[in-house]
Order: sequence, then C-alpha cells, then structure tokens
Amino acid sequence: MSLDDVLSRIDADLPAATDRLLELLRIPSISTDPAYKEHCDAAADWLVADLNSLGIKTEKRPTPGHPMVVGHLDGEGPHLLFYGHYDVQPVDPLDLWERDPFDPEIQDTPKGKVIRARGAADDKGQLMTFIEACRAWKEVNGALPCKLTFFLEGEEESGSPSLVPFMEENKDELKSDIALICDTGLFDSRVPAITTMLRGLLGEELTITAPSRDLHSGMYGGVAMNPIRVLSRIIASLHDDTGRITVPGFYDGVPEIPDELRQQWQGLAFDHGRFLGDVGLSTPAGEQDRTPLEMIWSRPTCEVNGIWGGYTGAGFKTVLPSEAHAKISFRLVGDQDPLAIRESFRKMVREMLPPDVEVEFKGHGASRAGAFDVSDPAFEAARQALSDEWPDPAAYIGCGGSIPIAGHFARIIGSTPMLIGFGKDDDQIHSPNEKYDMESFHKGIRSWARVLAALTR
Ligand code: BES
Ligand code: ZN
Repeated sequence: MSLDDVLSRIDADLPAATDRLLELLRIPSISTDPAYKEHCDAAADWLVADLNSLGIKTEKRPTPGHPMVVGHLDGEGPHLLFYGHYDVQPVDPLDLWERDPFDPEIQDTPKGKVIRARGAADDKGQLMTFIEACRAWKEVNGALPCKLTFFLEGEEESGSPSLVPFMEENKDELKSDIALICDTGLFDSRVPAITTMLRGLLGEELTITAPSRDLHSGMYGGVAMNPIRVLSRIIASLHDDTGRITVPGFYDGVPEIPDELRQQWQGLAFDHGRFLGDVGLSTPAGEQDRTPLEMIWSRPTCEVNGIWGGYTGAGFKTVLPSEAHAKISFRLVGDQDPLAIRESFRKMVREMLPPDVEVEFKGHGASRAGAFDVSDPAFEAARQALSDEWPDPAAYIGCGGSIPIAGHFARIIGSTPMLIGFGKDDDQIHSPNEKYDMESFHKGIRSWARVLAALTR
C-alpha cells in the first residue's frame, strides 16, 4: 500500500467528496424537534447507503428515539471504531442566517473557502472526513487496512437519550481496540490536536410559580410576590463577586491541575486576545487568578442558557406574571458528581423561596467529565501522523465542551477513546451561519488516511 497514492486520490476526489457532503447537509436532521423526525431518518438512510457502497455492511438500527447507523467490515489487525453524529442543532434565530441553513454553499472568504450550512462543522463535515478517507483508501488499495466499525448517532445534540441503553445492549458488537471520535477541533484554529480532557455537563430547568394567574401590576404590584424577582435573585446568587459558584459542595472533586500540565498548557501559546477579540470581547470573565485556557479546560462553570417569563412581546404590558423560567447548565471537571450537584442545587433553590412561591425542576442530562489515558502507543503514532499533515506538530489538549460518549466507550465498552477533529473556533457551531473550512475538510480527510496508516502499520 502507498500512503502517497491514497493522499493523491483524496486530492483528486475532493470536488466529488464536497458534493457528497453537500448532499448530506441538505437533509435537515434536527434531532431535538419532533417535526424533523423523518429528516433524521433520511440522514441515517443516506449514511447507510453511502457506507454500504464502500463495502461496509451497514444498517439503520432503531431506538426509541432516532436511529443509530452501525456498520462493520471484517479485517486483520487492530479493530478501529469510528464515531460521529449525523444530527444537528436547531437553526433559530433563522433571521440571523445569511442564507437557508439547509441550502449549503461553498463560499470564498478572506480566510479561504468555507462550506456554509447547519451541521457543516458539527458534525456532518467531520464525520465525512473519516468516510472519505476510507473511500480513497479502498479505491487505491482495493481493501481497507483493518477491522472497522462505524457507529453514527442521531441524538447527540439532544442529549443522547437512547445512547447508553444501546451501547449496553450491543456491548460485544461495539467492542473495539480504539474508538475514534471526530467531533472536536484544532487547537487555536490551526494546530492539529488530540483531545484528552472533556468537561461534563449537567442541565437543569426551573419553573418558579407564585400567584395562581397573571395579575395587573397596578392592582397587585407591591403586595403580590413576582416570580421573576425570585428567579433573578436565585440566578444572581449562583456566583460570588470573584466568579466562584456558590452551590454547596460544588467544588468537591475539582482537582487542581498538576504543575506539569499547567506548564504544558502554557507552552501551547494560546492567543487569548484573538479568542475573545473574535467575539467582540476583551476581558476574561471567570475566576481572575486563572488563565483563559485553564478556565475553559480545567474549571467548572454555571451558565444561564435561557430565561423567560412575563410579557416580552411588542410594546409594553403591566403584567405581574404567575411564572418565571430558566435553563441553567453546569460544566463539570475532575470527579465532580453531577447527581450530587443536582441535589445540592435544588436544595439551595428551595431554601431561597419566599412564602407562597413554588419551584418545579426538570433535569436535562448529566454526564461526568472525562480525562483519557494516552499511554497506549497508538496515541503517539496518531500524533505523529497528524504532525506530518499540518504545518505545526500535533498537541494533546483539553476541551471545554462535552462529548459524553467518550466516557461511555471507556466505561461501558472497554475501548480506548481517541478524540481527533478539525473544527475551528470561528466555525459558529450551534449558531447562525455555521461553516466548516475547506481546509478542515480536505486536511481532515488526509489526516485520517495518515492516522489509519499509522494505527495499522
Ligand atoms: N461537538 C460538540 C462538542 C464540542 C464543543 C467540541 C466545542 C469542541 C468544541 C458537541 O456536538 C456538543 O455540542 N456537545 C454538547 C453536549 C451534549 C451532551 C448536548 C455541548 O458540549 O454542549
Ligand atoms: Zn458535535
């Protein structure tokens, strides 16, 4: 086999590979909205057909939610599994999109060509990098180099409700030596990276109710308790003046990062100014004695993701509402226990309620942080392969986001998770005008060919 021939094949096939990605991007597979169920199914069907065309025996596997796509190819050598997700985030606010989010377009920008569409970076463009690498490999060599399993999910952006039961039921089938997860980014938008730390996530939704119906704020204001006031006080008390989170016991299990790791991160020369400047900010808002990379990779957070209640329409209405709502999420690190924090948070909120005020909670997913061992020689081999493709040598990095399946692979299946992805900080994932750089797509495909070669040598 010649890796150079595979790389040349990838270069020559890039226009066709891009067309295939555009096809997948035209399917609006928004997993959280039941109105898009058929489209999620269609995206799964598209992937099943594409993988079968590569000779990988692939099926759509039903779950109580959206289907999983699972494909297998027999072979010698290590057994590699590849994971990505075909579902995407909702598109709202739609009016901030420059064009239809599901009518993808290749655009020339000052920073190079981009593929603009919902899901371009998270995660359809990324999952196709691996599939395209396999396609080129097969076309050049007639066969793929090892035993392969594909595991593509359609519920990642909506908390993966079917994932753990599916993994538990299909443990033996999903067992592999290494689970390659393509859902992360480059470091500082330029340096290839293997992500070895992810934050966990805990979601809580609360509804505060006080009067039994909406009231005239002239007739009742001052004497009736306003639930928005109560909610605001609760939210305001979640952080102290130094940025620390006040939920009792919240910091139990939060480790101080070892000096060695802190030094390694300092060596990464992260451009804090550009990172914040790109989004119109200048001053880090977290705990003031931490560097921004430490804040994102090694510190837990509490953020309000949504807050609503009362009258928010045009004009003005003097209403004293009966309900107020908020969605709050916590990013977790180290050994923080999501369920213990949920309990402590709920207790703290209940204790802050004045008379006549009630609260209802709805939990939204709870996953622990992950820190993955890189002692398997496969990591150094993959790191070298990435370094060969990109101008900078590859780095081991942390990630502020959450990919719970990485932990599930380690814990439920007993496979070694390895997270490699090619997203950039300005891809606008989960936001309007999401894009994936053509460079990420092209070099991403080439990177996987090199990693496949390195892991099967
Ligand atoms: N691809 C992201 C994770 C990610 C975020 C990687 C930022 C690199 C940088 C993933 O699809 C995602 O958004 N995950 C959710 C969690 C999930 C449980 C809903 C997240 O991190 O909010
Ligand atoms: Zn993703």
